[in-house]
Amino acid sequence: MSNQWWKESVVYQIYPRSFQDSNGDGIGDIRGIISRLDYLKELGIDVIWLSPVYQSPNDDNGYDISDYKAIMHEFGTLKDWEEMLAEIHKRGMKLIMDLVINHTSDEHPWFIEARKDKENPYRDYYIWRPGKNGKEPNNWEAAFSGSAWQYSAETDEYYLHLFSKKQPDLNWENKNVRLELYDMMRWWLDKGIDGFRMDVINFISKDPALPDGEAVSGKKYASGHAYFMNGPKVHPYLQEMHEQVLAKYDVMTVGEMPGVTPEEGKLYTAEHRKELDMVFHFEHMDIDSGPGGKWDLKAWSLVELKLILSKWQLALADEGWNSLYWNNHDQPRIVSRFGNDAEYREKAAKMLATTLHFMKGTPYIYQGEEIGMTNVSFESIDDYQDIETINMYHEKIANGSDPNEVLRAIHQKSRDNARTPMQWDKSQHAGFTRGNPWIQVNPNYKEINVQAARNDPNSIFHYYRKLIQLRKKMPIMTHGSYQLLLPNHDAIFAYVREWQGEYLLVLSNFSKEHVSITLPKKQWMEKKATLIISNDSDHCSLVEMVELQPYESIVYHLS
Ligand code: NOJ
Repeated sequence: MSNQWWKESVVYQIYPRSFQDSNGDGIGDIRGIISRLDYLKELGIDVIWLSPVYQSPNDDNGYDISDYKAIMHEFGTLKDWEEMLAEIHKRGMKLIMDLVINHTSDEHPWFIEARKDKENPYRDYYIWRPGKNGKEPNNWEAAFSGSAWQYSAETDEYYLHLFSKKQPDLNWENKNVRLELYDMMRWWLDKGIDGFRMDVINFISKDPALPDGEAVSGKKYASGHAYFMNGPKVHPYLQEMHEQVLAKYDVMTVGEMPGVTPEEGKLYTAEHRKELDMVFHFEHMDIDSGPGGKWDLKAWSLVELKLILSKWQLALADEGWNSLYWNNHDQPRIVSRFGNDAEYREKAAKMLATTLHFMKGTPYIYQGEEIGMTNVSFESIDDYQDIETINMYHEKIANGSDPNEVLRAIHQKSRDNARTPMQWDKSQHAGFTRGNPWIQVNPNYKEINVQAARNDPNSIFHYYRKLIQLRKKMPIMTHGSYQLLLPNHDAIFAYVREWQGEYLLVLSNFSKEHVSITLPKKQWMEKKATLIISNDSDHCSLVEMVELQPYESIVYHLS
């Protein structure tokens, strides 16, 4: 496998709206980011992924773009952005931008034209159909509730929107659409950015017949996933994009891909296919969702989590490349979700970090993860800001659900768990803003904040620093093969990495019990073991029978 820089990098995601406000309007901005670059450098990260900062009416916080080449006023100006890029590069870090090209905003000039009349040259930039028997063209449900079709009276037709009705889907069948998007990508690349994170990029090719999804009794709309996830032309489109744009730059690309399987993941990322460098899959993020989807809470099992992550490790072992993540702006906080955000918060956060960072792939850290930020439980729906959460709440209440039950699901799964402001210090609003924050700060900021974490040598923050430093020192973390141990153990995640005759043994206890395990008699057990990192000061030396404390994680190097 070749040694691309992004295989050796650690990426940090910034959700700009919630990161750092500089002008007191309660909304994070670019100058705020600039003021925190030294912090990111201190953490040791290599690459920043910036969630969208483009001009947007903010129906979905910037994932609805009305001008791809302008910066959102609330975030600053293009000049601020250019300064930020220069400051990032000056510190030896890189920047990847979010690329949202499955859809635009309905306020994008293309759509404003397209909706006017059927003959408009931009009409075919989007996906239009007449109604069927006085109803929508098919039964697909939008990700943000309701139908995926919106009626447009100007022309008596419907347009497709897989997300909100203010996010019409682009028609990738139209070559002009693709060429304009490639042009825009080159415009940003020529400014010197280092790559893209591509939003729902495996949704761009729809089955042209747009067939009905399988109906579920009691539900008005159905899932259309089978007809647009990894659709018929997605690979040719990505190859075309690679050839026309990406091949000419030394950049990294990561495609966000709900519904991608490891087999598909390999097709998207195998180097010789010239599509993308890595994908974000969601299999491990879906293990606490029941058949009714993300709000249908289900108990998750460690055995299943291990199975999923190991399957991806093995599928992309020799071809393709994995991304490694626990968190992003759409997911609840990992320490609350798969760890423990009460008594064992610090240990659990470090344990989760260890488990992920020693796998093969490029690790991503989402803002606040490095200080163990937790989920939030706002009491009223009025405190939530996220369109997905709000639409779902109102739909469920209208259908007779118990508001307390719905709120319970929101506390566990809402995207706003990830979007409360970054907790910098214990001053008002956690040092995020001197104004009124657009979304409330998590009330635990006085205890959980960057300032406290930097001052405590045993903090989660310093543990993440150490993990990142280890990755830079130990090529085995990047290149080693992966093997799962004890697959059926319901509390311990254990695996081995191997590279050029050396080994790493990673042991993590996902429970609040003391757990003893017996390691298999493998040849590496006879080698000399050195402790590399642990979140417990009271750890034992490596023997066949290991006892792990609650949420303990321990890594040995064997050679
Ligand atoms: C995925 C993004 O991560 C999410 O925040 C957004 O709402 C949808 N794509 C639509 O762009």
